[in-house]
Amino acid sequence: MPYQTVKGTYDLLPDQMIRFNMVAQLFRHYLDLYGYSEIRTPVFEYTGVFQKENDTSDMVTKEMYTFSPNGKDSLTLRPEGTAGVIRSFVENKMYGSEDMPVKLGYIEEMFRHERPQKGRQRQFTQMGIECIGDKDPLIDAEVIAFGYFYIRILGLTSIKVLLNSLGDNESRLRYKEELKQYFAEYKDELCTDCQNRLDKNPLRILDCKIDRDKDFVRNAPKMKLTDESAEYFAKVRHYLDLMEIPYEVDDRLVRGLDYYTDTVFEVVSTNEASGSQATIFGGGRYDNLVKEMGGPDISGIGFAIGVERLLILAEAEDIFDYEKGIDCYVINLNKDPDYALNVAEQLRSNSFMTEMDYYGRSLKAQFKSSDRKKARFVIIIGEDEVKDNTVTLKDTLTKAQETVKKEELADRLDQLMEDYYE
Ligand code: HAM
Repeated sequence: MPYQTVKGTYDLLPDQMIRFNMVAQLFRHYLDLYGYSEIRTPVFEYTGVFQKENDTSDMVTKEMYTFSPNGKDSLTLRPEGTAGVIRSFVENKMYGSEDMPVKLGYIEEMFRHERPQKGRQRQFTQMGIECIGDKDPLIDAEVIAFGYFYIRILGLTSIKVLLNSLGDNESRLRYKEELKQYFAEYKDELCTDCQNRLDKNPLRILDCKIDRDKDFVRNAPKMKLTDESAEYFAKVRHYLDLMEIPYEVDDRLVRGLDYYTDTVFEVVSTNEASGSQATIFGGGRYDNLVKEMGGPDISGIGFAIGVERLLILAEAEDIFDYEKGIDCYVINLNKDPDYALNVAEQLRSNSFMTEMDYYGRSLKAQFKSSDRKKARFVIIIGEDEVKDNTVTLKDTLTKAQETVKKEELADRLDQLMEDYYE
């Protein structure tokens, strides 16, 4: 039996890789537009970077790939991007920057031992941003705007922004107590996971996939924000309105990770192709994480887009419009490839995507290859061309054919392309 990919992992084959790179390239453009710098943290970190005391998230408690190569250190493949970026922010003392907030972006592989299904892998890619160092509704709105407009510019339309506030530390603590008491009465009716969450993080019961639609969960008391938090949230909404970003306030949106405070949001797909994994990206503010990781008492906010989910949706909405092709195909009719190799290299050094025949095949076979590769120009080299130090140049769009001096080929191609696009 030949080897196969490990369950929950996948190959990005060349065609998918083109689409992957297109979305990544646009994301990098958005990093520039919004003033973010790209960062890359290690694939594995000390487990403590991800695992905090009393963590209740599924990701930390059940899904981490943790190992100990020397029997001493506990290391974990990163399950998400935020913790590693904050570790780096603190370790590299970026909080000393005169230009707060510090804005960092990443495109990285993540690893979670989840049950694989469409849009849910064990290795997947996140494109994310973290804006660290200040807390202002303007920043929250800008972070949401980045993600929303990125998705819209990509061409996706069947999306919805969900928004909620988890309140500041004070309102959340109060609410947790209230929920604990409320759900205690229904303990036996909760799923096993939620029974465990009841004590540590009853908020998570509100968006538990198993329990969320039960009547007693629907009727659970609502969060009462402090005046300060309510005002903060109102301002975030005001700025979103101003930028004409449509959203729905969903007071049961609590997000799967434990570190969130105040603003949380998700962008979900309303396209059936996304199946049950409809959240394309999610994020929120974290007031306590930087401090918990040994840094100063400052807040941050960010989000991460799941690239695989984005690609499923992008394909379903058929937004990719590209035709892969090359600029030149060099057809060689001589036994000796030296001259053709020289021409091909000259073209590449002038930035023309160029391929050539390697096998000395018939003219017909070489033309077929050139067609398949969708070459814009065909460069034909026969005996005469070598003798005269020329090439025969054929423009596949205009069908025009001409003889060009070898040294002048690149300039001539530039000219033909310019004329064509004028
Ligand atoms: P998250 O909601 O756990 O948040 O993941 C963000 C996105 O990653 C999800 O919306 C989804 O698109 C994608 N994703 C998560 N798990 C999988 C999986 N197993 N397979 C495929 N895609 C997946 C975070 O990770 C936070 N660090 C986001 C954040 C940044 N919050 C603040 N800053």
